[in-house]
Amino acid sequence: MTQQNYRITLLPGDGIGPEIMAVAVDVLKLVGKQFDIQFEFQEALLGGAAIDATGEPLPAQTLERCRNSDAVLLAAIGGYKWDNLPRHQRPETGLLGLRAGLGLFANLRPAKILPQLVDASSLKREVVEGVDMMVVRELTGGIYFGEPRGIFATETGQKRGVNTMAYTEAEIDRIGRVAFETAQKRSGKLCSVDKSNVLEVSQLWRDRITALSKEYPDVELSHLYVDAAAMQLLRWPKQFDTIVTGNLFGDILSDAAAMLTGSIGMLPSASLGASGPGVFEPVHGSAPDIALQDKANPLAQVLSAAMMLRYGLDQPAAANKIEQAVMQVLEQGDRTGDIMSEGMNLLGCSAMGNALIQALEQ
Ligand code: IPM
Ligand code: MG
Repeated sequence: MTQQNYRITLLPGDGIGPEIMAVAVDVLKLVGKQFDIQFEFQEALLGGAAIDATGEPLPAQTLERCRNSDAVLLAAIGGYKWDNLPRHQRPETGLLGLRAGLGLFANLRPAKILPQLVDASSLKREVVEGVDMMVVRELTGGIYFGEPRGIFATETGQKRGVNTMAYTEAEIDRIGRVAFETAQKRSGKLCSVDKSNVLEVSQLWRDRITALSKEYPDVELSHLYVDAAAMQLLRWPKQFDTIVTGNLFGDILSDAAAMLTGSIGMLPSASLGASGPGVFEPVHGSAPDIALQDKANPLAQVLSAAMMLRYGLDQPAAANKIEQAVMQVLEQGDRTGDIMSEGMNLLGCSAMGNALIQALEQ
């Protein structure tokens, strides 16, 4: 029998984070009762909230708590207030430290257009209807972490900014395997995205992914340069099923893929390592402009809790139940401002939470 007791670290973070986290926790508590799953929740500080309390964006205690839990549910971090601090004190640095500290090299970002929200997309209905893809982004390597990095003085006294895009074979292989296995569970199509016409690091990437494909004969592999991939995402997104790419290209393409669905406020993500707890978080940010106004869309946070149950805790039935409740509230016309359209019911964050609870209780 699967384990039924879990210690979950909650990182509500900044901006709208605490509001959407509260909704997700209510949903988890109820689903826990329904499926006989016990959650022990512990909160920890990350990002701006941590900077204000301790001076650092990722206090050692937070990393320790995350390491000692079965899964981590993160909301969002960052805000204007901390934007001008030195880099090592920025909220983003805390998030990158968390990813590195937990070894979360695989970031799964699904972008699926929900039939109820087709008209929320800025693209034509026939282009986006039926879009259902998964971006597998490498998360602890590439230019985000490569050395050397910094702003250095040249001999002429000019400043020169440097970052390094680097991948070892082992780093490419492990994210490649996650991607091939993800594609196997989906429609069996994998597109690897690189810039191998210009970059050596991408040439190695393409060589390794091609070599790995011999071990996955049931997966149909294709390759695209990142510029062409961006174009194809907008031109005909339905050609994609699973996409695998490096850290920077994945950052950019996953935002583009998210926007196909009309609202980044709907999309969850999972960050996984080889072992140990995963981190589950919405793709969107902390939206400081609407924080504390009860306007945020909690659905991506709630869907991240569902991903946590599915990928982190192996509780697919409870995950399904949450996903169905989200479908139901949309079906009955409930909308937050970001996905509002004519004739629908405009709800705030906590009212959307209540609607979800009702849907779950039925
Ligand atoms: C993301 C974000 C982060 C990233 C930032 C906040 C550091 O954009 O998760 O996509 O660039 O990875
Ligand atoms: Mg991003």
